[in-house]
Amino acid sequence: MDTSKLLNLREFEPLAREALSPMIFDYYAGGANDDLTLHENEAAYQRIFLRPRVMTGIAQRSMNTTVLGQPMNAPILIAPMAYMMMAHADGEAAMARAAAKRGIHMVVSTSATVSLEDVVSAAPGGARWFQLYLYKDREAARELVQRVEAAGYQALVLTVDRPYLGKREPDIRNNFGLPAPLLAKNLPTAASQGGAATYRGLVFEEDLRWSDVAWLKSITRLPILVKGVMRGDDARFALDHGADGIIVSNHGGRQLDGAMATIDALPEVARAINGEVDVLVDGGIRRGSDVLKALARGAKAVLLGRPLLWGLALDGEAGVGRVLDLITEEFDLALALCGCQSVADVTPDLLADHKLILQSTQ
Ligand code: FNR
Ligand code: LAC
Repeated sequence: MDTSKLLNLREFEPLAREALSPMIFDYYAGGANDDLTLHENEAAYQRIFLRPRVMTGIAQRSMNTTVLGQPMNAPILIAPMAYMMMAHADGEAAMARAAAKRGIHMVVSTSATVSLEDVVSAAPGGARWFQLYLYKDREAARELVQRVEAAGYQALVLTVDRPYLGKREPDIRNNFGLPAPLLAKNLPTAASQGGAATYRGLVFEEDLRWSDVAWLKSITRLPILVKGVMRGDDARFALDHGADGIIVSNHGGRQLDGAMATIDALPEVARAINGEVDVLVDGGIRRGSDVLKALARGAKAVLLGRPLLWGLALDGEAGVGRVLDLITEEFDLALALCGCQSVADVTPDLLADHKLILQSTQ
């Protein structure tokens, strides 16, 4: 369908529900157990209020930023998400093209349905990182990292919050599996028909340790971000073992249900890191003002998840483009209405509760 008339990110989900089979919609939309964390991620943004500046001269402004020194047209990236060809025949390729056209980074999942090399060919000029699920077989892991480097990816994102898959009850009820003929193209052939947790258990490391970050660091020249950190002490461990960036994430509420909202975990992590490396956050970002709130609480950038799948399902590359355009336009307006000329002007004092936040993390 034509998504150009949709006005905000929340409008996409009910339409995507109609467009997708229940098995696929439930897999994309779902959280773990009672969906407490899934809802809390979004709800927490709605409890944060702003303290805008006025009369600062905002007619000329810019959303440009850098993460790991890499330039971006906005502090918004595409979160790694598995199995995009279930949403649209062009899958990850369409996602990559929409991102590249807008100067937005895409994080490509280990569990992609288009191979990591074909994602690059689909949008040669694009900036992208690769999300790694570390394989138990470290030689196979090393080979995957070498492919990622050879293909020109600019960072590795090591996801650490899914030693086991969270309990997603709709997926169990639906007997969720990757519909044939789709394959998880980056995985060893024996596991590529995946979906089933048992298969994945054979391939992905369940017993990750901080020393694995150091190992990864020793076999690659790419910067490494650790995704799935929710505490200041863990963020320090990541840094001590060579991480170049931190992504505060609870996997969009798909892993530990009852985990706190990521936007509420962010200040402690940002405080612990104290500017030594870039801190990013994902989960529940649906409005441009949410992006601004995340920056004010200490994130350098945010990653956006499910709304992009809804855009992809409804209108392929154009639908993804519409989601990215809506969120960036809203962020630009939020900047202006907060009296900011650039992302550097987004400071904690823009938050109504900034005194509380600063105290609680001291
Ligand atoms: C994910 N996420 C995820 N994360 C990851 O590191 N590797 C992956 O393969 C996937 N796969 C995946 C599939 C689907 C369908 C979803 C919805 C999510 C988690 C993702 O990167 C991110 O943390 C959250 O989705 C962000 O939250 P929102 O924006 O979806 O609320
Ligand atoms: C998920 C895995 C693939 O959240 O990360 O479904």
